[in-house]
Amino acid sequence: MKKIIIAIDGHSSCGKSTLAKAMGNALGYTYISTGDMYRAVTLYFIENQVDIKNIAAVKEALTHIRLHFETDENGNRIHLNGRDVSEEIRKMHVADLVSPVATIPEVRREMVRQQQEMGKQKGIVMDGRDIGTVVFPEAELKIFLTADVEERARRRYEELIVKGHDVQLEEIKTNLSERDRIDSSRADSPLMKAEDSVIIDNTFLNHEQQLEVALDLVRERVREIG
Ligand code: DC
Repeated sequence: MKKIIIAIDGHSSCGKSTLAKAMGNALGYTYISTGDMYRAVTLYFIENQVDIKNIAAVKEALTHIRLHFETDENGNRIHLNGRDVSEEIRKMHVADLVSPVATIPEVRREMVRQQQEMGKQKGIVMDGRDIGTVVFPEAELKIFLTADVEERARRRYEELIVKGHDVQLEEIKTNLSERDRIDSSRADSPLMKAEDSVIIDNTFLNHEQQLEVALDLVRERVREIG
């Protein structure tokens, strides 16, 4: 089957990475979570006390950040300067700062450059907020994923509790709503639906059902483009 680029955008915690990962496995495609990249940059800024209002400091810090993905039995893991930070970046102190960090044009420019590089070979499924609009406006398939905010908060809460994080449901809901607000209203590449994307609302879909819907879209697109 011909390899394409699949862009998945949508609100925070609506299951983009779950869907993208499952599609990657089913299709034998590389899966890249661009949210992990913004989170890893945020973690670097926190650990190195980079003042995100100081653009010169941000630019300097970016030259010291090396990100790469490695696949092991736990999936596609992000490495920050050679260290696997896949667990660390999911913690609340990172979640609380990542949206402001992702508004910084210098940060976005560098992340987009790296993401476009990763897509050169096609056969990639990438999730984020600006994949179908900015990173790969020419992607053969664009999916805009969404779900009700109460349901998204409940899912993320359960995921974090299972992993042993000490969190409150209300705190998560506030964080999600705030991230949605910042992501959708920022000046540089705000979260928005690409005109030619297909909306999947998974509020009432389980993982298998949403994967089925998405794989049908892939087959249809591949057939269309021959
Ligand atoms: O997908 P996620 O929740 O892990 O993303 C974390 C944050 O990174 C999210 O609040 C917005 C930002 N982000 C972005 O601005 N652009 C992307 N392509 C991916 C994520």
